[in-house]
Amino acid sequence: MKFALALAALATTAQALSEEASSMLLSERFEAFKAEHGKTYTGAEHKERMSVFEANVEKVAKLNSKLEASGKAPVHGVTKFADMTEDEFQFYLGVDANLKAPELPVYRADEVVVNATGSFNWNDEGKLTAVKDQQQCGSCWAFSATETVETAWAIAGNSLTEFAPQQLVSCDSVDQGCNGGLPSNAFEYIKSAGGMCTESDYPYTSGKGVTGTCTSPLPSLSGGTVSDWGYAQDKCQGFQACTEDTDAIIAALKQYGPMSIAIDASQWSSYTGGIMDSGSCSNSPRKMDHAVQLVGYDADENYWVVRNSWNTNWGEDGFIRLKMGENTCGIANLAALVKSV
Ligand SMILES: *[C@@H]1O[C@H](CO)[C@@H](O)[C@H](O)[C@H]1NC(C)=O
Repeated sequence: MKFALALAALATTAQALSEEASSMLLSERFEAFKAEHGKTYTGAEHKERMSVFEANVEKVAKLNSKLEASGKAPVHGVTKFADMTEDEFQFYLGVDANLKAPELPVYRADEVVVNATGSFNWNDEGKLTAVKDQQQCGSCWAFSATETVETAWAIAGNSLTEFAPQQLVSCDSVDQGCNGGLPSNAFEYIKSAGGMCTESDYPYTSGKGVTGTCTSPLPSLSGGTVSDWGYAQDKCQGFQACTEDTDAIIAALKQYGPMSIAIDASQWSSYTGGIMDSGSCSNSPRKMDHAVQLVGYDADENYWVVRNSWNTNWGEDGFIRLKMGENTCGIANLAALVKSV
């Protein structure tokens, strides 16, 4: 009896010691995270954030070990979102899976691509503006649409110009500002408005989640017109099973430029680099929650290059690579391109 008690006491001590050691490690990791991302918390929030951080660190380890167990490279790590709950992370997205995307023509490229090889990236062509940051506002749709208008405008022979997502967030009344929208609706607004203001004329102010009202009169429009837009392949919504027409998207990407895509980014909060495949996200249109921009591919290495709007301190300098050929995260479901400006 005494012996058993002593053993139990020993076990408790050992457990307490190892808990202390791991919590020390955790607090060190948390301090490093705070320093890296300039985070400060006061009072009770510090403890709460640390426990959210701990849960996210555990989640990262689980996601990576699941990948490694199936012979894949890990793509997750501690990111700037590591102190946020899933609910808080929702504010960095901005597509509602229940939104019905408009019916639009499918524009096939003139050149037919079969079993593509090689690589191509609009970033290498000098047609991308700097990576943007939507911050804590569900305005991904406005950022994605702005990026696609910027690139289409530049590819059409105009100088590369930073246009204003704020114009779309505050003035496009079909979409819902910080509460979400769709790039294809934003193109409709831009057409009716007659173009876009520049970022410097209409700077972004919705980063804390306030949609704001449309400035009246609008600052002058500086190009960024849209006259024709459509999908690179048939849109896929609702309960349809969606597949990627890789060759059609490659051909359209090269001919028309980067496209606005709607995807499932529920696991992107912890993405730190590498090629994410369909084991890490859903290609179901019912799971789409975020809009981004498809800008390039490497058909030999089998990945797409996608630009996000979470600043350059996320992912691979603001970009993510997604496995080609399996409609990873739903990249092909609503692949919207601007055909003419
Ligand atoms: C493309 O790839 C498929 C599957 O590997 C193959 O059956 C087909 O012959 C290829 N087509 C061409 C034109 O190379």
